Amino acid sequence: MRTKLVAGNWKMHGSLAANLRLLEALKAAAREFAGARCAVCVPFPYLQQAHAALAGTEIALGAQNVSEHDAGAYTGEVAGAMLRDFGCRYVIVGHSERRTHYAERDAQVAAKFQAAQRAGLIPILCVGETLAERDNAETDAVVGRQLGAVLDAAGVQSLRDAVVAYEPVWAIGTGRTATPTQAQTVHEFLRAAVARQDADIAARLTILYGGSVKPANAAELFAMADVDGGLIGGASLVAEDFASICKAAAGR
Ligand code: 13P
Repeated sequence: MRTKLVAGNWKMHGSLAANLRLLEALKAAAREFAGARCAVCVPFPYLQQAHAALAGTEIALGAQNVSEHDAGAYTGEVAGAMLRDFGCRYVIVGHSERRTHYAERDAQVAAKFQAAQRAGLIPILCVGETLAERDNAETDAVVGRQLGAVLDAAGVQSLRDAVVAYEPVWAIGTGRTATPTQAQTVHEFLRAAVARQDADIAARLTILYGGSVKPANAAELFAMADVDGGLIGGASLVAEDFASICKAAAGR
């Protein structure tokens, strides 16, 4: 039985004042979604604030990016060990916005995934196809290649301490979510790809769905056999909505 996980990806949003309100409201609601795992992935400058605010709670902290290097002359980069210093448990790697706007390639994403694990972080590896790729029936090929790059570089054992997130690019921030069946089909494909190398790891692997998850569609997505929770963008910035999605994951 996989415990569901809901992770908020704040992206480049927030302020000290707004974060305080959001985090306090989430903490106040946390009792209602006990039974699901919950995390917030915040911008780097707010890690300290969120770390302090979430101390002693069950809400985990994450970051949205990490350097593939452990330390050194890499101006502007942030190392996994630094994220650990600030209490991070998770870090998102290979989000489509990083792949698209910052030209991150599969090999670099795999290197970041490995750097995260070297630092003791749980990487949340994002995969997903564009609309053109879906229309060309290339979804399996694209997500298979993105996952395969990590399997090749890090080995299937690395997925024991990792999370995969299927985020169709056409569903991110568009209000157009994948149907539960569309999500399930890809999640099943991803789990089967891992199972070909190790059935036990595949059975335990948490695979999140991301892309316009809202309180109104969360429960039906989370009801699918291979959907183990969500990676939430816009709705994670609204305490009531994020709490409601976490509740859906907790089966309430
Ligand atoms: P939205 O929930 O805003 O569509 O964003 C999804 C996402 O990119 C989470 O990483």
